[in-house]
Amino acid sequence: MQVGAAYVEALSPATRARHGRHYTPPELAYHLWSMARMSLGFSPGRQVLPGLVRDPACGAGALLLPALREHLRASYGVDPALTLAGLQNLIEGVDTDPAAVWVANVVLAAEMLPTLARIPESRRRSLPALARVGDGLSIPEQPARVVVMNPPYGRVRLAPDERERYAHVLYGHANLYGLFMAGAVESLDSEGVLAALVPTSFTSGRYFSKLREYLGREAAMSAITFVEDRSGVFSSVLQETCLATFERRKRRKARINSLGSTMTTIATVKVQKTGDPWVLPRRSDDAPVTAAASAMQESLASLGWRASTGPLVWNRRSDDLHAAWGPSRSHVIWAADLDGGILHRDPARDSMRYLALTRPSDSKVMVLDEPAVLVQRTTAPEQSRRLIAAHLSRDALSARHGRVTVENHVNVLRPTGLDPVLTPEAMTRLLATKTMDQVIRSISGSVALSAYELESIPLPNRDVVRSWNDLEGDALEAAVSAAYRPEGSK
Ligand SMILES: C[S@@+](CC[C@H](N)C(=O)[O-])C[C@H]1O[C@@H](n2cnc3c(N)ncnc32)[C@H](O)[C@@H]1O
Repeated sequence: MQVGAAYVEALSPATRARHGRHYTPPELAYHLWSMARMSLGFSPGRQVLPGLVRDPACGAGALLLPALREHLRASYGVDPALTLAGLQNLIEGVDTDPAAVWVANVVLAAEMLPTLARIPESRRRSLPALARVGDGLSIPEQPARVVVMNPPYGRVRLAPDERERYAHVLYGHANLYGLFMAGAVESLDSEGVLAALVPTSFTSGRYFSKLREYLGREAAMSAITFVEDRSGVFSSVLQETCLATFERRKRRKARINSLGSTMTTIATVKVQKTGDPWVLPRRSDDAPVTAAASAMQESLASLGWRASTGPLVWNRRSDDLHAAWGPSRSHVIWAADLDGGILHRDPARDSMRYLALTRPSDSKVMVLDEPAVLVQRTTAPEQSRRLIAAHLSRDALSARHGRVTVENHVNVLRPTGLDPVLTPEAMTRLLATKTMDQVIRSISGSVALSAYELESIPLPNRDVVRSWNDLEGDALEAAVSAAYRPEGSK
């Protein structure tokens, strides 16, 4: 695939980013195909393709190559002229980029040369072009047995007719890769398999909730391999990435693996089918906790808590941020003020400690004057915990002139009704437990934790949760850990 890599390198970084032209390295293409083979029920030995394998955003053809290679090798005993003539029904690449399609056709044709060489010269035809220029989102005529893809990513604004076409998988913002996943599932035949290299945000993000429901109904996830940063194969992408397979056939279990310098088996879990964030362990020692969590019916939201993102985006208000207090100013809470899980005042932020409430909406939007639980929205990768919460108590508010403004790297968790089951103090202690950190790591694999993901933390029934109000320290750790043990192991 050096030809594909050379083509991408020839593009300007801006073009590469705008059109999502990041091609899959051969190691990942190979892994994705081996996952697809498993879903197809292939034996370890080479097998001919049972139907059409399509890549709707094929670039230079990296993902089609392992399938083509296996098919050609498995067809060795067959008339090579027939094998080549049949390829157009078995491999198809589509891409909007004509230069990439050209490269793909060269790369795929090169793979066919040994087969061509076995045909007597008098019977040779020109090699089939398996990739074509087109829109991978348009509905294809022929259903596919397998769709392999590493589709373009990024938010897109859709025309009203496009929104309507994808209404069943859209909730709020549309992301191109989600549309490609939905389109791919639609294009599969009744035994079809989708094998996709995609960001993991579809497993937990709010905007993907309808896509999750749709996948649960139409093509449940049968395997997911998290690609670890240190695998070194995907260094240019900042978000967590995975290889995942989805099958039209009904599935009860999904395999979870992790790909670093080697492949590690993490767990086999029950297939999750709802629109709620999927709880998927990234490490095998998190697997028992996540198995219990994914069977729970309650969540922070259902027990009466609402999370929102702090409203202050500091660089939009830099002129209003000051070092000194004043009567129309509000004390700013920065993410660093929560480090260590105790609300404090990080001296490094003191030059921007107060926000001048200059806009008419500020007193409504920017001011928090009620106790709350504050949770960091992002943590540094090297931090040992993902979940860092601190209590904004009445006393803490009084010490800050009775009101604060929370920056947008902090989530604010507040009770919505009269019975929030846990006091804010107990909620803060709960979020500081090891078990809760394991749960959250299995919902969001990235360092970011959205308000939506926080609200969706699965919890046991309210009586169990209520009993945690009086517990602290080791007693609380033990009680929470016992609640997150899978059925049968209690
Ligand atoms: C991340 S690259 C992956 C290419 C290839 N599948 C691989 O894995 O190496 C995404 C590709 O999607 C193509 N693309 C973007 N929008 C598309 C569309 N609407 N239809 C088809 N291809 C598209 C880009 O030109 C780019 O080649």
